[in-house]
Amino acid sequence: MPERSESEGASRLARTLRARAARLWATRGQAEREAGVRLHRLAERLRLVGATDQVIGLALAAARDEDRHAELCDDLGVRSGGRRSEGAASVPEELAPAGLRERERVLYDVVALACLQETLSATLLGAMVERATEPRARAVLAAIQRDEARHGRFGWLYLSRATADEGRDVVGMHLPFMLRRVLEEALLRPDATEDSALADLGAIDAREREQLCLGTARRVVLAGLGRHGVDTSAGERWLDLRAALTARR
Ligand SMILES: [Fe+2]
Ligand SMILES: [Fe+2]
Repeated sequence: MPERSESEGASRLARTLRARAARLWATRGQAEREAGVRLHRLAERLRLVGATDQVIGLALAAARDEDRHAELCDDLGVRSGGRRSEGAASVPEELAPAGLRERERVLYDVVALACLQETLSATLLGAMVERATEPRARAVLAAIQRDEARHGRFGWLYLSRATADEGRDVVGMHLPFMLRRVLEEALLRPDATEDSALADLGAIDAREREQLCLGTARRVVLAGLGRHGVDTSAGERWLDLRAALTARR
């Protein structure tokens, strides 16, 4: 009898973990789908403001990659007993503050999505790959990470050609708003916290996620923006405050 209840307990645990794994892949798939919608929208706006074919082509390629990433996450969710997501993602909110001129808004979105969010995604995925031990999960995460590492390129390219009056100052001024939106609302929100019982699927907990994001935002993103002529002092101050708050917790 005890043997039977032990095996019942083990299979209950296995079922619970499968359900949690399915939720993890659903959340990851949803994030990929949202990124895809935002990048498709941005590629169209880049076309409207006369960006080069190279920049538009890279943005579109990134958008299509995100759609494919969502499918890959769905596939793994289905293997864990989850359901494939139906229909298109809902239209994500605008990232830019209201009141910007069209060209300023495009540059702002390029920096927020390509230079910041894609860089953070590549870093987080890198940590997930290092952690994941389940072979299929590891292979999918590694394939996604390779793409994410390329996605920011169109952002840096567009920024390198943007003149000061196209909004570099606006980007610098709004960096605290941008960092808060992208870091807190997209990457550090409670439902982005991954289940620590799923480390074999590459799950990273909230604290590590936050440290990786804050460190990468400063060392890679703000440093890169500074090299492209953006005044990053407001962004640096925001990160200092955020780090102080984290240290006090
Ligand atoms: Fe992706
Ligand atoms: Fe991406």
